[in-house]
Amino acid sequence: MTAALSLQELAADIAREAGELARLRRAEGVSLAATKSTIADIVTEADREVEALIRARLSAERPGDGFLGEESGGGDGTTGVTWVVDPIDGTVNYAYGLPAYSVSVAAVEGGADPNTWRPLAAAVYAPVLRELFTAGRGEGAWRDGMRLAVTAETPAGALLATGFGYDPATHDGDLLTVRQIMPLARDLRRIGSAALDLSYVAAGRLDGYFERGLKPWDFAAGALLVAEAGGVVTRLDTASDRPMLVAAGAALHARLSGILDKDI
Ligand code: IPD
Repeated sequence: MTAALSLQELAADIAREAGELARLRRAEGVSLAATKSTIADIVTEADREVEALIRARLSAERPGDGFLGEESGGGDGTTGVTWVVDPIDGTVNYAYGLPAYSVSVAAVEGGADPNTWRPLAAAVYAPVLRELFTAGRGEGAWRDGMRLAVTAETPAGALLATGFGYDPATHDGDLLTVRQIMPLARDLRRIGSAALDLSYVAAGRLDGYFERGLKPWDFAAGALLVAEAGGVVTRLDTASDRPMLVAAGAALHARLSGILDKDI
């Protein structure tokens, strides 16, 4: 056990190691393990192997902590800290050989419910791009040693990102939302990894991001990155099965929420 490692350092170490494993497995070829909610919602053998590595590393370093992972589910701990993990966020990109995928590792205080937890530490690692984004509560957000800040102004319109769920039945509604948001936009990106979308908002590479129906592991780390980079992250309509996550600098966040709140 490495008792000296902070939660942030541990998240960063594990995300990097896990990401390197994902990259290696991608180079060897991808095998599909299963489909999940719909035929478009896939899991690869690498998702499972990478999550198993993360889970094993965490239980060796912090045996009393809880765990919630995309592929292997959850277990309560005894310390009050829970790790929320997406081993490969952007699995469809991964399967197609697109570089925009990431490993997302977050430590939160409290249980697995995003409505009540308090994020403590986060790491998002993009193995192909070899970029590591980290944050600690009250300690700022960082990319490879450089402090991050969200954008404050969007004079030419906002560079926004969004995503769509895997269920075709939700596409029309999501496209209607896009139409309503476009008057605020300079342009719109669909990167394919929510953890990277949020990391990029934190880094000022995107002005804002919104998406319905994200799972806790998709945004646990990225939301802390945005908050520690001076931005605002909220979830609207949390009683529904597809809450809307909105992340941006304060001024843009208010404008996005003004539209998205009405839309819901
Ligand atoms: C997905 C990605 C994608 C988002 C989906 C997520 P996964 O995560 O973050 O960008 O639009 O909603 O489910 O399934 O690749 O881990």
